[in-house]
Amino acid sequence: MDVLTLPAYGKINLTLKVLGRRSDGYHNLSTIFQSIALADRLTFSRCREGIRLETSGLPVPQGPENLAYRAAARLQSRYGFPGVRITLKKQIPLAAGLAGGSADAAATLIGVNALFNLGLTPGQLAREGAALGSDVPFCVIGGTALGRGRGEELSLLPPLPTLWLVLVKPSFGVSTAAVYRGWDAGPGQTTMEAPDEERALEAIRRGDRAGIMASLGNDLEAVTCRLYPEVMAIKMRLLAEGAERAVMCGSGPAVFGVAADGETARRIASRLQETYPETIVTRTL
Ligand code: C5P
Repeated sequence: MDVLTLPAYGKINLTLKVLGRRSDGYHNLSTIFQSIALADRLTFSRCREGIRLETSGLPVPQGPENLAYRAAARLQSRYGFPGVRITLKKQIPLAAGLAGGSADAAATLIGVNALFNLGLTPGQLAREGAALGSDVPFCVIGGTALGRGRGEELSLLPPLPTLWLVLVKPSFGVSTAAVYRGWDAGPGQTTMEAPDEERALEAIRRGDRAGIMASLGNDLEAVTCRLYPEVMAIKMRLLAEGAERAVMCGSGPAVFGVAADGETARRIASRLQETYPETIVTRTL
């Protein structure tokens, strides 16, 4: 195999509960991850030496600040291969809570492993990914999964009935570390819909869309809304335009609205686009 092209799917969190701060500074979570159709695209080919990363689409760094570069560098130093050329077409909004960087890192682990026949299993790739970022192991596995610990202890769940989504990202990005520091300062108002993980798991197992919809929620939403009130405004706007639910993605600031069907999602998105150019229609995988 000389050239390999892979999609790198983004994610949302159907439920996200923060259980507490750990002695290493990370936070223990219990979260239901869900892959979405919105994806970056990466192409891998061999080169004589080093790691060459070229990017198109949304602007991203081309050096070691890029998580895809770091993923390739990690496999190169630990398992050895001459060199890889990566082209990344960046489409997932950055610093949004959609795991765009983690998805690129995961695709790179999978792509480099296949291109150079390194022989690593998906489980080994997920463990390599955990060293790069908390969401990388999920992005290696994909689909629907329950994440514990930092999010790296994964149990697979059955696929979801398709949910049509309207993703809305404000013009600013958010630092995940800053949001968790905000949580340490006080989790924020718990008036927002609390995630109901047990109900979500039960509903996912039964394929019960209404049950899934009723259980969505994210503990970090109150924190990010306190730091950036515009996130709350986006939630309200999505609901006012007809979304059935609107919940923040990961640590934010992007929010996903769930629409009844694809046509409704496109109609809601066309209204939101006037204010928020980074509004995207997608669906769960
Ligand atoms: O693992 P990742 O690099 O994505 O995490 C970025 C930052 O977010 C960490 O340095 C940490 O401050 C915070 N974090 C956390 N608990 C998690 C995941 C991330 O405190 N479970």
